Amino acid sequence: MYSLELRLSLSCYGSQSFFKGIVDSGLGFHLQYDMALLEIRVYPDPVLRNVAEEISEVTDETLKLVADMVETMRSARGAGLAANQIGIPVRIIVLESEAEKGPAKEALVVCNPVVVSQEGEDVGEEGCLSFPKFYEFVKRSNKVHVKGETLKKEPFEIICEGHLARAFQHEIDHLNGILFVDHLSPVKKSLFKKKYLKSEK
Ligand code: NI
Repeated sequence: MYSLELRLSLSCYGSQSFFKGIVDSGLGFHLQYDMALLEIRVYPDPVLRNVAEEISEVTDETLKLVADMVETMRSARGAGLAANQIGIPVRIIVLESEAEKGPAKEALVVCNPVVVSQEGEDVGEEGCLSFPKFYEFVKRSNKVHVKGETLKKEPFEIICEGHLARAFQHEIDHLNGILFVDHLSPVKKSLFKKKYLKSEK
């Protein structure tokens, strides 16, 4: 029921870290970029605790950022990425759409996303690109209604369940400086801190 997806057609031109990307902006023109992989900030980088700012205007720079975020997410084999995970504190998330299969990939891109209602409960395993090799079970709502804006600054709306609902909750949390480990029980949280921070040293 979402109203628009940003279509990203990506093709690799040889080099591992740079791709030519064509962004269909949805505005009737295409932008070509040399897409770059961005550095993903890893816990406990303090930038992950920043509350991201609303996007009031979509510029060429925003489109370039989005294209790079999608490329970075895919290269890292993530299911989603929030802009503050690459150190840019703005309210943009990119997600792999569940429906996508095959080589013509599309990503979901949402500006200023908000969960407006939620229902049910679901416990599922989560990971995060900001926590390499750490996975844990997290309780979330099973179904969410999310509103936001497309890159055309048109209303975006989706009601979804399961993996996609989980991904939206995880990524929107990022924009508010909340991390998936914050949802763990106190016991699991302290185990996480001991294990994870130790293994990072
Ligand atoms: Ni994450």
